[in-house]
Amino acid sequence: MSDASSGDEPSIRSETMNAGAYESHLARSRRMWNRWSDWYGLSESDFEPMREEAISRLGLGSGDRVLDIGCGPGVNFASVRDEIGADGELVAVDYSPEMVSKARDRVAEHGWDNVEVACADAGTVTFDEPFDAAIATLSMSVMPDIELAAETVYRSLTPESRFVVFDVRAGLGGALGLLNPAVELFLRWYANWNPDDDVVESLTAVFESVEVVETYMAGFAYTAMAEKRPTATDESAAGCNS
Ligand SMILES: C[S@@+](CC[C@H](N)C(=O)[O-])C[C@H]1O[C@@H](n2cnc3c(N)ncnc32)[C@H](O)[C@@H]1O
Repeated sequence: MSDASSGDEPSIRSETMNAGAYESHLARSRRMWNRWSDWYGLSESDFEPMREEAISRLGLGSGDRVLDIGCGPGVNFASVRDEIGADGELVAVDYSPEMVSKARDRVAEHGWDNVEVACADAGTVTFDEPFDAAIATLSMSVMPDIELAAETVYRSLTPESRFVVFDVRAGLGGALGLLNPAVELFLRWYANWNPDDDVVESLTAVFESVEVVETYMAGFAYTAMAEKRPTATDESAAGCNS
């Protein structure tokens, strides 16, 4: 696994964001999430049912290799590991060194020797081996270039695999929609949420199929399932037995 963030500039997608803005968004994320890491445990169970639901949609089996993007202090690890067993592999990535340290503590406490945590930017990290599935909970919307992070995931998956995203947005429906500007301000202040990119649109630009499969809290939170489908080249490489 390697983090290209210290090498060439990332190929930024957003028209509104140049490389300097990308770096400053990342630096702010690192500062904020380092700081929040001390308090994260107080609220990490708030979204637990939604995270569980998202993990169950991955359709994992024993021995699968799974990627967790923006893992924070490792809140998804126990559930993912329950699904993949001791023969599977979980690789988790986060850009905050303090979050990574807490995630590694969690791994050490449980003695999980098939869970690896890396400190890297999801927009530029690369992996040696492909994954059978990927998950991102409450993290894609805080990336500096969401499409770039979605591309990382797409590239890192095997053909015919799934990326499930649970996230939040300023997307309250009906009369509550009047509160969306305040929700956006809150998310930007609290989470360094990215107001310029939309997670579902970014996934749609990258994956062959994307569907919002659940919404919660009047539209504030949602789960999206993105599917990578085999290309013609992949299919022909598989042989001509059909
Ligand atoms: C709201 S926390 C979510 C943590 C966890 N996945 C959860 O469900 O609670 C967002 C996490 O995304 C991480 N993050 C932000 N930007 C990132 C990036 N560019 N690459 C990797 N991780 C990033 C933050 O450090 C933080 O730990």
